[in-house]
Amino acid sequence: MNVSSPLGLPLVRSISPSRSIASPDPGISIAARNVNFAVSSRLGPVVQILKECSISVPTGELWMLLGPNGCGKSTLLKILAGLLTPTKGEVYVRRPRSFVFQNPDHQVVMPTVEADVAFGLGKSRCSPDQVRLKVSKALSSVGMSDYMQRPIQTLSGGQKQRVAIAGALAEACKVLLLDELTTFLDETDQMGVIKAVKNCLDESNEVTALWVTHRLEELEYADGAIYMEDGKVLCYGDPVKITEFIKAKQAAYIDQINS
Ligand SMILES: Nc1ncnc2c1ncn2[C@@H]1O[C@H](COP(=O)(O)OP(=O)(O)O)[C@@H](O)[C@H]1O
Ligand SMILES: [Mg+2]
Repeated sequence: MNVSSPLGLPLVRSISPSRSIASPDPGISIAARNVNFAVSSRLGPVVQILKECSISVPTGELWMLLGPNGCGKSTLLKILAGLLTPTKGEVYVRRPRSFVFQNPDHQVVMPTVEADVAFGLGKSRCSPDQVRLKVSKALSSVGMSDYMQRPIQTLSGGQKQRVAIAGALAEACKVLLLDELTTFLDETDQMGVIKAVKNCLDESNEVTALWVTHRLEELEYADGAIYMEDGKVLCYGDPVKITEFIKAKQAAYIDQINS
C-alpha cells in the first residue's frame, strides 16, 4: 500500500535496503566514508551540499548530530536512511532502519495509538497475538502503555513522536534516524522524547540512534556527538568536548559581533 502523510510527504517507516556496503566493523551500526552530495539545477551551477563527510556510530549508542541551519544535517541523515544517494562515498547502516521526521503529524496515520504502532506489522506474518505483544512491548519502551486505545489526535506532539518511535521498534528496527524531533515541542514533551529514546537503547543493546538537534542541552544525553558546518564534519566524539567546542565558537562569534 502506498501511504502519504496529510501534507503529501512520503511516510517512511522501515526503509527497504537500497544500497549496501559491508559493515566496517561488527560493533558499528552507522558509518559514512567520504560522503559527498551535490545538486544541480537548470538555472545554476552544481551546489555541493555535503563534502567528504565521514562518521561512525557504535552499536547501542545514542549519538547527536549538530550544526548551524543549512549545514547539511538532514541531507546526511536522509542519505543514511537511503532516501538520497550520495554523489560520492559509501554508507553502511544496519537494518532495519527507520527515519522519524521533525513534524509529528507527518508520521502518525492510524486513528488510535495501538493501530498506528501495529501499522507497519501489517506486512509481517505475525499472528494477531504476536502483533499485540510487539505493540505493547514497543509502547512500554517509550512510556506510552497507558495510551494504547487513545485517539491519535488527542496526543501532544512529543507523544506522537514516541508513538512513531514505537512503530519503528515494533518492526524490530536496529537503527533510529531522528531528525530534530524536539523542534516543535515544549520542554516537558522534549524531555519525554529524549528519555523514551534513551530507554529504548538501554533496554536493547542492539538499537542505535542518531539524533539531529540544534539544542546544546540535549547533548548531556548523548554517548557521542558530531558537529557539522558548511557540509563538512568538523569534529566528532566525546559530547563534553563537542559542547566545549560549540560554546567556544559561539563565544568567538559574539566577540566578533561586539568588536
Ligand atoms: N534538493 C535540494 N536542492 C537544492 N538545495 C538543497 C536541496 N536539499 C538541501 N539543499 C540545501 O542544502 C543545504 C543543507 O540542507 P539541510 O541538509 O536541510 O540542512 P540542515 O538540516 O543542517 O538545516 C541547505 O543550504 C539547503 O538549502
Ligand atoms: Mg534539517
